[in-house]
Amino acid sequence: MQRICVYPGSFDPVTNGHVDIISRAAMIFPEVVVAILINPAKAGKFTVEKRMELIRRACAHLPNVRVEHFDGLLVDYMHKTGASVVVRGLRAVSDFENEFQMAQVNHQMAPDVETLFMMTSPECAYLSSSVVREIARFGGDISAFVPACILEDVQAALKEKQD
Ligand code: COA
Repeated sequence: MQRICVYPGSFDPVTNGHVDIISRAAMIFPEVVVAILINPAKAGKFTVEKRMELIRRACAHLPNVRVEHFDGLLVDYMHKTGASVVVRGLRAVSDFENEFQMAQVNHQMAPDVETLFMMTSPECAYLSSSVVREIARFGGDISAFVPACILEDVQAALKEKQD
């Protein structure tokens, strides 16, 4: 029985789609680590510290979830953390090819690391962080896409970036 699973991603920012996967993983695994990739090639709109804070608030109701960040290879981070299960969400068929490749590459590099896929809930199937960023940038309503407890912060930050 595996205790820990890791849910990696960029979370720029966290959305209801991510929280959907995190909540469901938290019902299956005793510990869920949400791991933010620090990607020098993709600076992102939110700092890593801000992304961590937003995820912590969005997941405050889930006591078995913690938030970390990593750089480099996911499999190296998995070994360092002592975790061997990666959880990823599948939104649509279009996600499959990328996810399939990542899972295969990771398995080739680290056969002890298993990737589990969860289908996103239908109401989140079309969601992505860039959709949220774009709607907020133009002053649209993102209340259906991000948790209520972080809504104001996300809106304000995205508006600030535009000024
Ligand atoms: N709900 C809502 N949105 C979702 C989602 C879900 N369930 N699942 C993914 N998304 C969105 C994200 O918000 C993101 O949106 P954006 O592009 O509009 O910002 C997009 O899908 C991409 O997902 P994300 O998980 O952030 O990034 P990724 O597909 O680039 O993968 C890692 C991230 C961390 C898993 C991967 O890059 C990695 O492992 N990197 C480390 C390097 C490494 O080990 N490489 C070897 C493996 S090939």
